[in-house]
Amino acid sequence: MVKLNWNSKGSNSKKICDLKRENSNCFKRFETYPKNLNSFLEKDWKNSLYWGDNLEVSLKILDSYEGKINLIYIDPPFFSGVNYHINISHEGNKYDSTAYFDNWNSDLDSYLQMLFERFLIFHKLLANDGLIFVHLDYHAYHYVKILLDEIFGKNRFINEIIWYYYNKYSAGRNNLPRAHDNVMVYSKSNRYTFNEIRLPREKPRKQLKRIMVDGVLKNLKDEDGHVIYRMVTDKKLDDVWKIPCLQPASKEWTGFPTQKHHKLLERIIKIGSNEGDIVADLFCGSGTTLLAAERLNRRWIGCDISPYSIYITRKRLINNRLSRKNTQQKFNPIEFYSSLNEENLNLIESGFFEKDLEITRR
Ligand SMILES: C[S@@+](CC[C@H](N)C(=O)[O-])C[C@H]1O[C@@H](n2cnc3c(N)ncnc32)[C@H](O)[C@@H]1O
Repeated sequence: MVKLNWNSKGSNSKKICDLKRENSNCFKRFETYPKNLNSFLEKDWKNSLYWGDNLEVSLKILDSYEGKINLIYIDPPFFSGVNYHINISHEGNKYDSTAYFDNWNSDLDSYLQMLFERFLIFHKLLANDGLIFVHLDYHAYHYVKILLDEIFGKNRFINEIIWYYYNKYSAGRNNLPRAHDNVMVYSKSNRYTFNEIRLPREKPRKQLKRIMVDGVLKNLKDEDGHVIYRMVTDKKLDDVWKIPCLQPASKEWTGFPTQKHHKLLERIIKIGSNEGDIVADLFCGSGTTLLAAERLNRRWIGCDISPYSIYITRKRLINNRLSRKNTQQKFNPIEFYSSLNEENLNLIESGFFEKDLEITRR
C-alpha cells in the first residue's frame, strides 16, 4: 500500500498511549449555560465546548467517547501559508489580533504530523457506523487523502465533495481562478449512516419510468407496449455542491475569517447523522458546525484553540437559544472547558467572554 512518509513520522507515528502520556489531562469546567440547571437531570446530556489544543482535548474525551461519536467534521488550517487577522473594537478601543495561525514556514512535515496524530485519535472516537468529513483545499488535500487512506483504509473512502463557491473573487492571472474546496468523506466500517438528500430541479423533467426485473433496470411499458413517463421535480444530491461563500450581508456573518456557510454544514450533518446523534468539530472556528448541529437536534462536542473562536461560538450558540426561547425546541445545557493555566484564567476572570466585542476581518 502507498504510504506517505516525512521526517518526524516515525513508525506509524507515535502510538496513542505515547501521545496520552505526553498530554496532561488538565481541562476544567469554567462555565455552564444556562446557569440554572434545575430542570435538567444529572444524567442529561451536556454539549461541551473546549478551549484548547484539540490533541489534548481529543485525548481527554477518548476515555468517555471512544467509538461513540457519530459524525466528525473538521475544517483545519489548510497549509495556506498565511495567518488570519481580525480587528476588534470594544467600547471605543480598537486593536488588531490574530484569529488563528496557518503559516507553517513551508514546513509540510509539521503540518502533516499535526493532522496525522489527530486523525489517529479521531478514528478511535468515531462510532463504527460513523463518518468523518475532512475539509481542505488545493494546498494539501492530496497529501491528506493518503493519510486518511492509511488510517481509515482505502476502502473506507466514500466521497470527495467539491464545494464550488462561485461568488468568491480569485485573481488567477497565471492560472484558472480557484473556486472550490475539497471535503473528503471516510467511514469507519462498511455499514454507516448515509441519508439521501434530494434537491428541487429548476424545471420539472420528463423521465422514463423504470423497474428492476431480475436485477436489471427495465423501462416500464403500458398494455399497448408504449414506454411510460413520469414528471420528476427533484434530483439526488451529487458530489458537487454549489453554495456561495458567506457574505458580510448575511445575518449569519460573524467576522471570523474562513467561516463556512451554514448550508454546507447543514447538508453534511443531515447526510451523516440522525437526531440525537453526537457531532464533533474539534477545529470549530466560529462554531458553524455546532450551531447547525444544535438546530438539527444533534448533540455536539466542540473545540478550538483560539479565544476569539470560543468567544464567537459561545455568543452564536447563546443568541440562537435566546431567539428560539418561545419555540418547542429543547436544548441541552452547554459546558465550557479550558485548561485553567494562568493566562486562560486571567482572560476568563477579566470577563472576556461576556464582553460586547465587534470583530471584523482584516
Ligand atoms: C478554518 S478555521 C475553522 C472555521 C470554521 N469551520 C467556521 O465555520 O468558522 C480553523 C480553526 O482551527 C483552529 N485550530 C487550529 N489548530 C488547532 C488546534 N491545534 N486545536 C484546536 N483548534 C485549532 C483555529 O483556531 C481555527 O479557528
